[in-house]
Amino acid sequence: MIKSLTNKRILLGVSGSISAYKAPDVVRRLQDLGADVRVILTSGGSKFITELSLQSISKNKVHHNLWDKEAELSMGHIELAKWADCILIAPASANMISNMASGKASDLLSSVILASDAILMIAPAMNQQMYKSGALQSNLGLLKSRGAGVITPDSGSQACGDIGQGRLPESIDIANQIAKQFQTTQLSGKHIIITLGATLEPIDPVRFISNHSSGKMGMALVDTCIEMGAQVTCVYGSINIPLNDKANNIQTLSAQQMYDCVMQDIHHCDIFISCAAVCDYSVKEPSNQKIKKNGDNLILELIPNKDILANVCNLEKKPLCIGFAAETQNTLENAQLKLKNKGCEVIILNDVSNAEIGFNSDENQVIFISQKQQKNIAKNSKTKIAKNILTIFIKEFL
Ligand SMILES: Cc1cc2nc3c(=O)[nH]c(=O)nc-3n(C[C@H](O)[C@H](O)[C@H](O)COP(=O)(O)O)c2cc1C
Repeated sequence: MIKSLTNKRILLGVSGSISAYKAPDVVRRLQDLGADVRVILTSGGSKFITELSLQSISKNKVHHNLWDKEAELSMGHIELAKWADCILIAPASANMISNMASGKASDLLSSVILASDAILMIAPAMNQQMYKSGALQSNLGLLKSRGAGVITPDSGSQACGDIGQGRLPESIDIANQIAKQFQTTQLSGKHIIITLGATLEPIDPVRFISNHSSGKMGMALVDTCIEMGAQVTCVYGSINIPLNDKANNIQTLSAQQMYDCVMQDIHHCDIFISCAAVCDYSVKEPSNQKIKKNGDNLILELIPNKDILANVCNLEKKPLCIGFAAETQNTLENAQLKLKNKGCEVIILNDVSNAEIGFNSDENQVIFISQKQQKNIAKNSKTKIAKNILTIFIKEFL
């Protein structure tokens, strides 16, 4: 099975339809595709399925109360809204659909929907006459016009004895429709080289100079570019995270090796994203044998490494270039200088002095800087930051 929802965070809203008893199966099918699922159960939903069933299957606390003091201290409604890549309402009751259409924030689920920029998918499930009603259809039309996706209900015999359209589709079909939401074609036909991770500069066969980069931000860009249809070459240094097997993965160690790999492929590439933390210096003459300690000071002569991004930007036929600036002081000034000096299209400024973001953390907060604009991208998961960076980039340059 292709795990097409790997790393995806799905917030499942279960509302007051008789078919809420199928919600645990929807959770299972989403998990089968690799998704991390959290559940919000409305008061209507809780009449048809228990919190305990959904908690046991999702392996996460089920959220239901907007006024939960403890939850507001940790995974509160705004956190849930930011956490989600997609909010799926399955089943969506007629009442829930009406609340969404009128922009109500009267309970936890409707408040989270309003506070989120995640993909919104609605799976209506109700009596066939309710489904056909003018009010329901006009509410669905309004929600679609605002960008929500509607999963068409199945036809057949219903719990109430009627026959018609309004049944919740099979859980596997719902999960597959969610997976489809993440496949876009905005970057199809583009070849993108992304460097990531830290380079290792050898001192001797067992020691090296390196840095704290984990490669997580770069890998989020690899995943997102692939989702957007690009052909990706991932040139990675030292990382401690899994690779995306849909990319052409090339392992490197030193800055020189990374430079050689990038240059070998660069003429076939449309976009170059330099996210690796390339060491600025390497040891001039690494020892072939392990250096023995003898009590004396050890002096290493360091020589500057080639600047991969600057060299790519200097090519006669250069690709569009995105560079990362990890700065700890005068951050904005240094990043703007880097944009000018290197000649790249975009610099993504990363303030690595803040331990909550940047190196090794799962979250980031960056500034997108081009000649034309400077845009703050608020703190969020690296996956969402990657998506935002690419969306702004595509709008300006493609
Ligand atoms: C036995 C029973 C079954 C119901 N089934 C549905 C249904 O399938 N779809 C629906 O939209 N409403 C259904 N309703 C009505 C909703 O439960 C009711 O509108 C509720 O307020 C919705 O709660 P919610 O806003 O939390 O979704 C049903 C009500 C009862 C008593």
